[in-house]
Amino acid sequence: MKPRIAVLHGPNLNLLGSREPAIYGATTLEQIDQQLHRLGDELDLQVDCLQSNHEGVLVDRVQAMARDGTRYVIINPAAFTHTSVALRDALSAVQLPFVEVHLSNVYRREAFRRQSYFSDLAQAVISGCGALGYSLALRFVADKLMTEAQS
Ligand code: DQA
Repeated sequence: MKPRIAVLHGPNLNLLGSREPAIYGATTLEQIDQQLHRLGDELDLQVDCLQSNHEGVLVDRVQAMARDGTRYVIINPAAFTHTSVALRDALSAVQLPFVEVHLSNVYRREAFRRQSYFSDLAQAVISGCGALGYSLALRFVADKLMTEAQS
C-alpha cells in the first residue's frame, strides 16, 4: 500500500490560471493536481487532492484523515491562512504532519498576509515558488517518509 498524501486547496484556488496571474501564475489547479499525481507515481505515493471554497468542507476532510490512513498533508489554506482557527484546530486535532504552501511570497505582499494560523504547527512552509512549491512539498514529504521508514 502506497502512503496516502492529502493535498488541500483553499478558497479561490479553483480560479488559478485566470486569477491575478502576475501574482499566482498561469498554471491551472487542474495542471497542479496532474503534476502532483504524476510525481506521486514517481515517488510511490498516493496523492488525493481536494479544493473547496468552504471552510467546513475542508474541516470535515481533515477530520476524516484521522480514519482514512492519510500520512501527510500538503495544504494551501489560501485566504483561510489568515482567518481560520477552525481549520488550524482540525489539523491540530488529527495530529498529522503538514506542509503549508503558498504560490505567492506572502511576505512581499499586504501586511495581513504575514499572519498565518498554520505556520507554527507546520513541518515546513513554502511561499513564493509558484506552482513548483507543491512539487517541492511532495518531494519533502517523500524524503520525510523515507527517513521515517529507515529509522
Ligand atoms: C495564497 C496567499 C493568500 O494570502 C491568498 O489569500 C490566497 C493564496 C497563495 O497561494 O499565495 O488565496 O495562499
